[in-house]
Amino acid sequence: MTVPETIPQPGAGAVTDTGPGRAEPAAEALRPHAEHAFAHELAALAAADDHPRPARWRLSPRAVATYLLGGTLPGGTVITPKYVGPRRIVEVAVTTLATDRALLLLGVPGTAKTWVSEHLAAAVSGDSTLLVQGTAGTPEEAVRYGWNYARLLAEGPSRAALVPSPVMRAMDRGATARVEELTRIPADVQDTLITILSEKTLPVPELGEEVQAVPGFNLIATANDRDRGVNELSSALRRRFNTVVLPLPATAEDEVDIVARRVDQLGRSLELPSLPGGVEEIRRVVTVFRELRDGVTADGRTRLKSPSGTLSTAEAISVVTGGLALAAHFGDGVLRPSDLAAGILGAVVRDPAADRVVWQEYLETVVRERDGWKDLYRACREVSA
Ligand SMILES: Nc1ncnc2c1ncn2[C@@H]1O[C@H](COP(=O)(O)OP(=O)(O)OP(=O)(O)O)[C@@H](O)[C@H]1O
Ligand SMILES: [Mg+2]
Repeated sequence: MTVPETIPQPGAGAVTDTGPGRAEPAAEALRPHAEHAFAHELAALAAADDHPRPARWRLSPRAVATYLLGGTLPGGTVITPKYVGPRRIVEVAVTTLATDRALLLLGVPGTAKTWVSEHLAAAVSGDSTLLVQGTAGTPEEAVRYGWNYARLLAEGPSRAALVPSPVMRAMDRGATARVEELTRIPADVQDTLITILSEKTLPVPELGEEVQAVPGFNLIATANDRDRGVNELSSALRRRFNTVVLPLPATAEDEVDIVARRVDQLGRSLELPSLPGGVEEIRRVVTVFRELRDGVTADGRTRLKSPSGTLSTAEAISVVTGGLALAAHFGDGVLRPSDLAAGILGAVVRDPAADRVVWQEYLETVVRERDGWKDLYRACREVSA
């Protein structure tokens, strides 16, 4: 059976499913989808791509990897790197999508799992919106299908009364479906994915029919390392996935690069001016986060206690973006430590009792003593008092 294209959504009236590539970008979206934000890069890659493409893929696996990792095309178009990390990880992730196994992106919070999943779906299928957000309350209908009850009561079970889930639509179209935070979903709901991933079919017993996935269908799930054990994946389901672990950035330089890039993009979309002093301050924030995360100073000399929060790259990005907004609206046009101190404190001290002790110790033994960090020390002292 084919899935109806008109999908009524609760409270939103009837929403027309415009399908991959047919979706029009909103005129002024606060955060455009990857396939719209990077449409020119995707088009240039498709035009230059002379490698074989798996069925219904917009690009060859090689071009998808270039889209994620960045590069320069023969025509001179520059592809910006979306993911900064080992090339092999991206290659394994992309290749997995061309096989009959689904892709599970695993890692600690803030390691770009969601980000990579969105960009992979955009590059492979031209549509990153076939998304199921996993929560403790995700119902089976969000993974399989639901019913438009008005129609169901009026007409009885029919195709028109069926409300397909994003996964069902992806199967029908041969596109990439995404499931966020898979391990937050209750185990019985998770297991509905087993038939979908192994048989590539979704039975609809009420209609005596089934939806069979067409070539091109696959699924990307993300899961957080820290939540492991909340709803552990069953081994039956785990076997349907190829697991790719996204690591924290290997070096401080990589991390500074990621933060600078993302802050620049976010700053532009928030219409913040780009301020001098940025990279130096980013380097200090990244150093503080890495040292506290690793439990040792960058020179390896002093052991430190780690706070309870994750202090990921994603948090460094928020701290710097927040500081930039402060500097732009209330500062003197330069990003200064006083614009960042409150953000750093907020990120480090999650548990007011234990983390505060860790932070004070770090401040007094490391920040205070470090050459050229007096201004940061003073700014942090002011907000910590
Ligand atoms: N290696 C990296 N390359 C590029 N961007 C990165 C990298 N690591 C983190 N980021 C940035 O960090 C931000 C947060 O990433 P994202 O939300 O995808 O994390 P996540 O792993 O899904 O976290 P969570 O487990 O909390 O859901 C994104 O803006 C992303 O650009
Ligand atoms: Mg995420």
